[in-house]
Amino acid sequence: MSLFGTTLNSLEDLFINQIEDLYDAEKRITKALPKMIDAASSANLKQALQNHLTETEGHVTRLERVFSGLNGTPERETCQAMKGLLDEGEDMIKADGPPDVKDAALIAAAQRVEHYEMSGYGTARTFAQRLGYTDAAALLQNTLQEEMAADKKLTEIAESSVNVRAAR
Ligand SMILES: [Fe+2]
Repeated sequence: MSLFGTTLNSLEDLFINQIEDLYDAEKRITKALPKMIDAASSANLKQALQNHLTETEGHVTRLERVFSGLNGTPERETCQAMKGLLDEGEDMIKADGPPDVKDAALIAAAQRVEHYEMSGYGTARTFAQRLGYTDAAALLQNTLQEEMAADKKLTEIAESSVNVRAAR
C-alpha cells in the first residue's frame, strides 16, 4: 500500500485497494517462484513450489475475474510488504550453505509469503461478503483455501524431510 495518495471513502474503496494490493503481490510471486524452484534441492520441495506456481497463475486470473465482476480493470497497488518478503526470499536463494539448510531457508521464506497472502485473502473475502459481492467472495475463498493448503504442504515437507536432513 502506498503511503501517499490513497483515498478511502468507503468499504468498497478499501476492498478495491485490498485486491489491488493482492494483485500486485501475486504478480510478484509468479516472478519469484521460478527462482525458488531452481534454488531448491529437495524433489518434494521443487514439486510443491512448481504446483504452487501453477496455482498462483490461477490466483492472478481469479483476481482479474473479481475486477471484471466489479466492472473494473485490474490495477496494481505496489505491495511493499510482498516486495520485502520476496527480497528476503532472494537472500535465501543466493545464500551459500548445505542444500538441506538452504531448502529449510527457502521454506521459511515461502511460508512467510503464504501467511501474508492468507491474511490478505481472508480480509478481502470478508469485505466482499459484507458488500454483498457473492461471486468475488467465493473466488477469494477458493484462493485462500489453496494458500492454506500450500502452507500446510510446506510444513509437511519441512517436518518430514528437509528439517530432519538439515539438522544432521
Ligand atoms: Fe497466491
